[in-house]
Amino acid sequence: MKKALISGITGQDGAYLAEYLINKGYEVHGIKRRTSRFITDRVDHLVKDHQEADKKLILHYGDLTDSLNVTSILKKVNPDEIYNLGAMSHVHVSFETPEYTANTNAIGCLRMLESIRLLGMTESVKYYQASTSELYGDCKIIPQKEDTPFNPQSPYAIAKLFAFYSIKNYRKSYNMFASNGILFNHESPHRGETFVTKKITTAAAKIYYGIADTIYLGNLDAKRDWGHAKDYVRGMWKILQYKNPEDFVLATNTNFSIREFTKLVFKEIGVEIEFSGKGVNEKGIATKVDSDCLIKIGQEVVKIDERYFRPSDVNNLLGDYSKAKRLLGWEPKYNIHSLIKEMVNYDLERFKP
Ligand code: NAP
Ligand code: GDD
Repeated sequence: MKKALISGITGQDGAYLAEYLINKGYEVHGIKRRTSRFITDRVDHLVKDHQEADKKLILHYGDLTDSLNVTSILKKVNPDEIYNLGAMSHVHVSFETPEYTANTNAIGCLRMLESIRLLGMTESVKYYQASTSELYGDCKIIPQKEDTPFNPQSPYAIAKLFAFYSIKNYRKSYNMFASNGILFNHESPHRGETFVTKKITTAAAKIYYGIADTIYLGNLDAKRDWGHAKDYVRGMWKILQYKNPEDFVLATNTNFSIREFTKLVFKEIGVEIEFSGKGVNEKGIATKVDSDCLIKIGQEVVKIDERYFRPSDVNNLLGDYSKAKRLLGWEPKYNIHSLIKEMVNYDLERFKP
């Protein structure tokens, strides 16, 4: 039985990946942080009682900022495949915590790579690094693919750049099977609530039932290439099954602005909204209501709060996944409409009175 070790198992992607690998017959080990409350809700359905013998998911306390801990988990588990998904993954928060972000996202990756070397696992382990479309940053080339130059715009992206090149360097210097997945934004009903898609679907459901009146957002002009996390974890696995360690873009090759995404979400709950005004005075107003919801025509359902603007933002991400399609046979099954439908239905059910 193959063994996989996932850092970031309690996050969106870690949970989907754990389920995917268990269904493939893997024994999955995950690194979870000690927290004052249980935060394993995304993987609880996969965890059996400690006493049961045939456990497919085993969790270890750990932290990517602790070298000895990373080394000892690697030694204990001795995995065939490592998926380094653990990160301080919120771009805006990285401006508030740049040092911690660098320690986790940049040095955390280096700790893993050095532990692999130290333990003599260089030949036996395959390593996946969660790289990101944020690396392209302020990029004038559209769409972006594997050889598009990077221009990162945040402490998050700069830390991920260090990790990206560490993978390339360890691959070349030590012949390690280490690959980067350069993944464009991917979402799901289990997305963290401070990311914009989940914030919008959550708010739309609350506004639908009259629990809230308005959602406050920041930059509505930014465009993102949004896919579904389920498709992307399948891609991560395929990247490690490819004959050579290489870097791959996973994306959908379509993008939408935050404004367009918001309109599509409200359309899904039977409400048309029109935007008017500029900058912090822009508003999204309900102009047509085709469902039983409590939203009124003329209601200002979207307003701007400048707290959500970032010191510098990334304006136009659009991925070209043709290399992954050609070499891995990977393609996304979801599109923006099926993604939004799933997220909205989940949140409508969640807040149903
Ligand atoms: P997420 O939901 O925020 O999950 C991040 C995971 O990392 C959580 O399990 C978190 O633990 C863990 N973590 C944070 N700091 C850690 C530390 N110091 N030591 C150990 N674990 C730590 O993120 P995601 O959306 O699943 O993304 C997974 C990875 O892909 C991240 O590296 C992210 O940067 C990258 N990525 C994501 C996307 C995307 O659109 N989702 C796109 C490109 C790349 P807690 O639960 O304890 O907080
Ligand atoms: N979070 C948030 N909240 N973003 C907002 C808001 C708001 O209220 N209003 C507008 N935005 C804009 C942000 O300024 C950004 O341009 C865009 O929405 C997307 O923001 P997020 O959903 O926070 O995601 P992200 O693109 O910054 O980062 C995500 O995707 C990256 C891949 O491109 C994260 O998952 C990263 O970890 C990942 O690497």
